[in-house]
Parts: sequence; C-alpha cells; structure tokens
Amino acid sequence: MKVIIVNDPQEGGKAGFKQFKDALANGARCFGLATGGTPQTTYEQLRNSDLDFSSCRSINLDEYVGLAPDNDQSYHYFMQQNLFNAKPFAHSDVPNGLASDIAAECQRYDQLIREHPIDFQLLGIGRNGHIAFNEPGSPVDGWTHEVKLTQSTIDANARFFANEDEVPRSALSMGIGAIMAGKKIMLEAYGENKADAVAATIEGPVTPDVPASILQKHPDVVMIIDKAAASKLQKQY
Ligand code: PGA
Repeated sequence: MKVIIVNDPQEGGKAGFKQFKDALANGARCFGLATGGTPQTTYEQLRNSDLDFSSCRSINLDEYVGLAPDNDQSYHYFMQQNLFNAKPFAHSDVPNGLASDIAAECQRYDQLIREHPIDFQLLGIGRNGHIAFNEPGSPVDGWTHEVKLTQSTIDANARFFANEDEVPRSALSMGIGAIMAGKKIMLEAYGENKADAVAATIEGPVTPDVPASILQKHPDVVMIIDKAAASKLQKQY
C-alpha cells in the first residue's frame, strides 16, 4: 500500500485529483465512484479542472434502498450535484434503490461491472472500517447485495438527514470482491474519527472485522489520509 499523508482534506483533494489525472492519462476509462463527506474536496478539484470524462464510464459503489434518484439524500443526487453536472461521463451507473426486484437489480449491477472492469476505484472508509456499505463481517468475495446498515453507520450518516429516523435502514452495495477487482484503488480518509479504522486497515491484521484491511492484499492501493486520520499509525510513512 502506498500511504500519502496530507495536512488536511483540502490538500487531500489536490492529491486525490492528481491520482484521477494520472489514471486518465494512463488510459483509465471506467471509474468506480464514492459518495459521502470524504471525496468532496477531490470532486471539487475535478469540477474546477479541465479533465474530460465524456468518453468514460462511472460506476458508483452504493445507493440507499427506498430513495428516488431525485431525493436530495440519494447518492444519485449527490453525484449529480458533486460531479456529473459539471463533469458528465458517457455513462454513469448508480444502483437503483427503488428496484422492485432487488435480486435482479444486484445481478444487473454485477453484470455491468463484469462487462466494464473498473480501472480506478475511489473509496472512503467508515469509522468501523467499512468500505462502501460492506460492514464488519462481510464476505471478502461478495458482489452486489442488499445490506442492513449497522447502528454505527446509521449514526454516522444521520448528519445528512433531518433526523436519525429518516436514515434508510438498508442499501444496495457493491461487494468487497468487486471492489478488489478494480485495477487501482484510492482510499481517502480525513479526521480523527477515522484514525482507528485507518490504523487497523494499514497496520492491523487482514480480518473481516475491519473490511478495509483486505486492501493490504491488493497490488495497487494508494491511501490519502490527513494527519488527524493518520494519528494512530505506529510507523512512519
Ligand atoms: P464519509 O463516509 O465520507 O461521509 O465519512 C465514508 C464511508 O462511510 O465510507
């Protein structure tokens, strides 16, 4: 794993942007994208850049079950606002949280990922070490599936909703197997509340208890973390 420690999320956004730029220059055409607070500085850099994704495809990690694409808490909506309105892709896919047949939607999504292998995968990390909505204990070879959110994730995401009761209780998520199939992975983490998860991911044992720790086994991972998120690392990077 390559570890890049930056001062703050703003500097992280610039480092994240450089990874996107290099990936594009090196021929990446399918980008796995993430939502949440973490990637916002990177998306800001991308929006304000001259990079052109109009011949590229994007595939998002996850979506809440039950939220329509135009719901302002949906991940569809987040992506439109944070990236796609400014930087359109030729095709952008996000799981359909309104699908009446969830199993068929998961199959459709897996098929899509198999047909369009992800060249560059962006990830955040949960305080409990989750990646996408793969909570602790998730199988390392999983593909798209419906996930019941843990209380830790509901609490963390409640800040985006009027109150905790409005946070959906489940989501559709790409699995860890599909994430690990990405050719290159960039994980960003900012803030002290990610420090335990970051330390366990980089320096702890590979265990399903910390889903992101499996990234130690991927051949091309770059971690962009700020000083606060790096504060519990034992080694120097
Ligand atoms: P956050 O979420 O970027 O909003 O902190 C990250 C995650 O839960 O994966």
